[in-house]
Amino acid sequence: MKPLSAFETLVDRARGQTLDLPPALARIYGPLRMPGLAGRPYVVGNVAATLDGVVALGRTGTSGGGDITGFEPHDRLLMGLLRASADAVVVGAGTFRAVPRHVWTAEHVDPSRARSYQEFRRRLGKPPSPLNVVVTASGNVDLRLPLFSSGEVPVLIVTNRAGARRLPRETWPSTVRVVSTRPAGRITAAAVLRSIGSATSAGLILVEGGPQLLGDFFAEKRLDELFLTLAPQIAGRRDPLARPGLVAGRTFAPERPVWGTLAGIRRADNLLFLRYTFGSPARPRASVVAPH
Ligand SMILES: NC(=O)c1ccc[n+]([C@@H]2O[C@H](COP(=O)([O-])OP(=O)(O)OC[C@H]3O[C@@H](n4cnc5c(N)ncnc54)[C@H](OP(=O)(O)O)[C@@H]3O)[C@@H](O)[C@H]2O)c1
Repeated sequence: MKPLSAFETLVDRARGQTLDLPPALARIYGPLRMPGLAGRPYVVGNVAATLDGVVALGRTGTSGGGDITGFEPHDRLLMGLLRASADAVVVGAGTFRAVPRHVWTAEHVDPSRARSYQEFRRRLGKPPSPLNVVVTASGNVDLRLPLFSSGEVPVLIVTNRAGARRLPRETWPSTVRVVSTRPAGRITAAAVLRSIGSATSAGLILVEGGPQLLGDFFAEKRLDELFLTLAPQIAGRRDPLARPGLVAGRTFAPERPVWGTLAGIRRADNLLFLRYTFGSPARPRASVVAPH
């Protein structure tokens, strides 16, 4: 296997503790800092978008995030690092249904570095796999799929009582827990985080999307930071619903704009790897937002 070139760090204002990466990962990524909060988990998102803002191509067989970056290996490594750092990885059921044979572990997305990720988790004192969390209002998830049936990872399905009724208890594999948070309807990001807190002690929660779930997290100001990979591709779109941006189903600006603060830029080949925090307001100066 050809060794992967190191990321070029252009800006690094990330705060927090430097995580103890094994040398094989540190050589490529450089230092990975992650804030730890007292009293609640730190919540990060990770999404890849094309230059024109598309995160899903919306066609059977090409609807996963890999098609956005062309399965670029630095992006796989970043996904691996974040999954390996996390206590829980959260996805909406739409993302799960787009890649139904996926398991949200570092090894699954970047198998060639599986041993390094396992070593990393040992150094962090974490169990071999993060809790995989699927959020669904409908309960329309097939428990025969590998995520649930393989027993490879602990899984939490966060749903409502109507959704839970679609998941008959006798078919739940022993590694799967189902939490219902309300009688029906969408589940708040706060309730998702509470459900995770009741299942595991989480210091870092990774939300991998998709756009609807991320929209809920942004709307409730529950996302501390976003890792955004910018892939050098123009996808184009006729139907914005079929080819969403990183948030769908919500509008913020201009009434309730959500501004981020740049925390990092790395580059590898033609991709940019951006980090934005959303903890404190960071409106641009008036001159930057002057009307055209
Ligand atoms: N480029 C990237 O990095 C990236 C990252 C992630 C996803 N994606 C892509 O995005 C596409 C999926 O988009 P999507 O808009 O369907 O996103 P999604 O948020 O993953 O899925 C939406 C579905 O998830 C469930 N859900 C989400 N938020 C919920 C909430 N607050 N309460 C209850 N249920 C909730 C609902 O499932 P039910 O219908 O079961 O109720 C909803 O219909 C896929 O093609 C995926 O590959 C791309």
